[in-house]
Amino acid sequence: MTIHAEDLAPIELRRVAVIGAGAMGAGIAAHVANAGVPVLLLDTAADGPQDRDVRAKAGIARQLAAGGFMHPDLASLVETGTVEEDLAAIADCDWIVEAVFEDIEVKKALYRRIEALRQDRSIISSNTSTIPLAQLIDGIGDRFAGDFVITHFFNPPRLMPLLELVGGRATHADTLVRAKAICERNLGKTVVTCNDTPGFIANRIGNYWMSLAAMEAFRQGLTVEEADAVMSAPFGIPRTGVFGLFDFVGLNLVPLVWGSFMQNLPDHDDHRRYDITNDPLFKTLLSRGLTGRAGPGGFYRRRQADGARTDEVFDFSLIDYRPRREPDMPELAEELGVLLAGEGRAGRYAWTVFSGLIVYCAKVAEEIAGSLADIDLAIRLGYNWRYGPFALADRVGARSIADRLEAEGSDVPSLLAQAARAGGFAALSGIGSGAAIPARSVAAIRRSGSPVAGNASASVWDLGDGVACLEIHTKMNACNSDVVAIVEEATALVARKFSALVVANDNPRAFSAGADLSAFIAYIQARDWEGLSTFVARGQRAWQALAEARFPVVAALRGLALGGGAELAMHATRVVAHAEAQFGLPERNVGILPGWGGCYQLLARASEIQADPVAAARAAFATIAVATPSRSALEARDMGFLRMCDPIVMNGSHVLPTAVRLARELAATDTCSVHRRIVASGEAGRFAMHATIDEGVADGRYTAVDKGVLEVVAEVLSGGGAKEGDELDHAAVCRAELEGMMELARRPTTLARLEAMRSSNRPLRN
Ligand code: NAI
Repeated sequence: MTIHAEDLAPIELRRVAVIGAGAMGAGIAAHVANAGVPVLLLDTAADGPQDRDVRAKAGIARQLAAGGFMHPDLASLVETGTVEEDLAAIADCDWIVEAVFEDIEVKKALYRRIEALRQDRSIISSNTSTIPLAQLIDGIGDRFAGDFVITHFFNPPRLMPLLELVGGRATHADTLVRAKAICERNLGKTVVTCNDTPGFIANRIGNYWMSLAAMEAFRQGLTVEEADAVMSAPFGIPRTGVFGLFDFVGLNLVPLVWGSFMQNLPDHDDHRRYDITNDPLFKTLLSRGLTGRAGPGGFYRRRQADGARTDEVFDFSLIDYRPRREPDMPELAEELGVLLAGEGRAGRYAWTVFSGLIVYCAKVAEEIAGSLADIDLAIRLGYNWRYGPFALADRVGARSIADRLEAEGSDVPSLLAQAARAGGFAALSGIGSGAAIPARSVAAIRRSGSPVAGNASASVWDLGDGVACLEIHTKMNACNSDVVAIVEEATALVARKFSALVVANDNPRAFSAGADLSAFIAYIQARDWEGLSTFVARGQRAWQALAEARFPVVAALRGLALGGGAELAMHATRVVAHAEAQFGLPERNVGILPGWGGCYQLLARASEIQADPVAAARAAFATIAVATPSRSALEARDMGFLRMCDPIVMNGSHVLPTAVRLARELAATDTCSVHRRIVASGEAGRFAMHATIDEGVADGRYTAVDKGVLEVVAEVLSGGGAKEGDELDHAAVCRAELEGMMELARRPTTLARLEAMRSSNRPLRN
């Protein structure tokens, strides 16, 4: 099996216009800027002659504060203006995104003005969440209808991967193809194509599930905490469950969003049986202004009284708040099938909601989507569920769900009956939910053969065309001694049998969370200093062997690259990083320093751009001292983890194929090796770094233990005893790293930090 890398190039966009600078419009504008594309952001003009574009400017300011931009400099790509004065500028825009109020008349009036000004072939899209496309374009003309689609982003636009794309009967095929490519390749979204039906896919199913789960909880007398405990972990649904999600979304949206469903859904739709817009309890909360997290509380609230914090919930029997209680439902510990079969309150509630959900999905699937897999994907990405509804049904068994419904005298929708006969929804030909394995994934390679090397923690795969893939597969891809052993083996194997190596895995959350802390803790507890020193030195040699290999090594990086994982990536010839990659060296938090060549690599990278050795040492020091990971790949570049030649890719699923293509290109290119001369900053560097440590102690950033750790880091980065101006090689810096590591490992405060991190996943501020 070979990994192909076609169709990855972004579409050329001169400029994009976003109209409406509210929560969504400003967020979309920020995300278009994240893709490096200039944006025009327009909102209505403020009264008076001054600061007419204050609304659009405020939208940008909010995005800067909320992290909508991957780097603050990107805000300069956004030009602000007003629809009153600047709408003509859309003539230069290839894509015009409308994100104004959810009001059809406001939208249509704007479309008429847009239509008169836009250039041919420009795409216009609406971010509407509820208004059908057919209604939006009604009466505006064929030219407009041909270039119009709905691009439904989720909030916040930067972070939510799902984008629902809807075309109409009159939309040109080419417009739909270009819109999909822009959203996928330029913006990195996972695009699900939907039919033009109310709420599209994710909200059609998700909002129904919310109404059903809330009203059944009222009917069956469950408390808020009980309902949320059932409607979360057992189903692979986030901890917010259903009532927590209402609080998050905002109960003030119930009349608007759920009201729109009640207006637009067909008369026979099951959602009409759960009309929360007319539910007395929802009405009570709303009439008291209890709108959720953004207001004074909703189903939950947190109170601060006399310096103490109490978490409260709304009690439906009291019609008031009371302190939150842990639900007493032992059946929740059971696996899902057992829970659903249970006769207790939890089991009955779980079955009613689950079966109601599956029946609804089976009834509406054909109307709303092209495949069951699209429905599962939309719910997974839009609502953060571990499984989509059809995959969940298959886990329980389509046959057992159908049989139980029949035994209860309920109708079995024909799609569910078909799935029961076929052995599951995944087995339904053509439309099945199939546990879709992306073609360009390590899993696809895994399915097609066996590894060329491997153990329980890591494997090496043949990706075809001379490229091997090293995959770490421990928890969060932490590096233990087995991983180090496979890196050693892969280096030798690729030199003999392949022409390039890609380091990759399929976990979008973690390239590698770093060296396995348990190994450190075990050596220190046993006071096995020789064992620890061997473990560290072996990792240094294994990572450095990759850097010195005669073949190119490309790290395909998504999610976290922390500590030893960040060091592994920095030893690659190139890193292909997902735009949301988080690089960090959090060693200070556990009382140690980067000891697998991380100090050397940071120093080397800083020396490439800073001729002054003191400035280079300070730059590397700042990255180690801050100990928090970057919030984007662009930030990782600022911090010195990534070089300008390391590509940053917007779409996470394009990272592996891009890395494979780059590895092939590098293997086929006769590149000259770069000798990096690193010069020790010596006493001057140490002095400068100590000054920043003292500042951090004075302003409370560093404790006495931090100070002790950072002084050792400063020692390593200044050259480990070398004089200012001496040339430093890899061996010298690694020797200093190892010495520093051994010194720190012997401090009792280090073991306390390591153990605290392992047990609570939080740094100990001793
Ligand atoms: P919002 O109320 O935060 O912002 C709307 C913005 O549009 C305001 O800044 C307003 O001044 C501006 N505006 C109104 N009429 C205008 C006009 N004629 N020309 C230019 N600007 C105008 O609304 P939000 O939440 O950003 O929603 C925008 C659209 O996105 C709606 O269609 C909504 O249904 C949809 N949507 C909202 C989501 C959310 O979570 N908030 C999620 C997905 C879609």
